[in-house]
Amino acid sequence: PKSTLVDGFHRQLNYLRLSVTDFCNFRCDYCLPNGYTANGGKRPDNELSLNEINTLVQGFAELGTSKIRLTGGEPSIRSDLTDIIALTKSHGIATVAVSSNGYKLGKHLSAWHTAGLNQLNLSIDSFDPMLFKQITGFDMLPTLLGDIDTLLDSTDIRLKINGILKADTAFDNLLSALDYAKTRPVTYRFIEFMQTSDNGKLFFAEHTNVSRIRNYLLERGWVAQVRASDAGPATEYHHDDYVGKIGIIEPYATHFCDSCNRLRVSSQGKVHLCLFDKASYDVREFLASGDVTGLKRAVQNLMPIKPEHHHLHEQNSGLMNNLSMIGG
Ligand code: GTP
Ligand code: 5AD
Ligand code: SF4
Repeated sequence: PKSTLVDGFHRQLNYLRLSVTDFCNFRCDYCLPNGYTANGGKRPDNELSLNEINTLVQGFAELGTSKIRLTGGEPSIRSDLTDIIALTKSHGIATVAVSSNGYKLGKHLSAWHTAGLNQLNLSIDSFDPMLFKQITGFDMLPTLLGDIDTLLDSTDIRLKINGILKADTAFDNLLSALDYAKTRPVTYRFIEFMQTSDNGKLFFAEHTNVSRIRNYLLERGWVAQVRASDAGPATEYHHDDYVGKIGIIEPYATHFCDSCNRLRVSSQGKVHLCLFDKASYDVREFLASGDVTGLKRAVQNLMPIKPEHHHLHEQNSGLMNNLSMIGG
């Protein structure tokens, strides 16, 4: 029995972002500069189990969810990520996506593909191997680029690559990304650096807005695509001479909030109604007992209180610790 989730602003919420673990093995300087330090640095042992995720996905499928993105932390830290992808498809979710740092892409690509993965978002914050290592702590850019080419050659998984926009590398990165997208069917997206309580110094040193990137593209014949109503925060640009696209994400903007179709669930089973909303709503009791009906009722009851937009542009809006807590 299918129903739909509609909030107080007539937005239909058909896209769930499910964090399957807070833990991450990388230590990106803008996110987890000292690595994962919560829980004594150890991976939490109270993540949702496969059974609980099964109940969750069934409930959301019956509530009309058509896309689920599995995030983290780093979702591939879970040895059962392939099973999670497969069970999500088995409930009829049309689009199953993963956001990953790509550490295990080479090892699991074919299993994820067979399990039904439709979309993958990876991070490449620099195309310079030394800088990549400096940012993430892992000297694996050449391996990652090779694994990506295998993905593009052997699967129909839709690929997007994210890069954080930092003042001193923005221009070099843009040139590298253009070169990369010239022949590859990928979208490379520049994300405006967001301030969190973990990255203060770097944020003040490196934050820059996206206007220089946007102007560079527009001056050279790139054309903004008409945004689909469910496009999320990204604006995508295309150019006749390029196979790939370039995207820009401005998380501090709110113009896309009108068409927000997203809900989030944390790796401990809490519903977050907005990326930047500090409140969360625990639905784990229903997951633990397999109570799909109770879960659906609880989620429906949250619909009237989803915020209209975030308040980041206002003073004292509060900062997240880092994005690994809720997966962006
Ligand atoms: P798709 O549209 O499914 O490709 O997802 P996405 O682009 O949101 O996914 P991804 O996991 O690659 O996240 C990229 C970045 O988008 C995150 O780091 C956030 O900066 C930003 N972002 C994601 N969701 C939201 C949102 O609801 N609001 C705002 N303001 N920013 C978001
Ligand atoms: N600002 C902007 N994007 C961030 N991400 C992580 N932390 C931040 C931040 N402070 C991005 C990662 C990844 C995506 C899921 O979230 O680079 O691409
Ligand atoms: Fe880097 Fe993503 Fe891990 Fe944060 S969660 S440290 S951005 S790989």
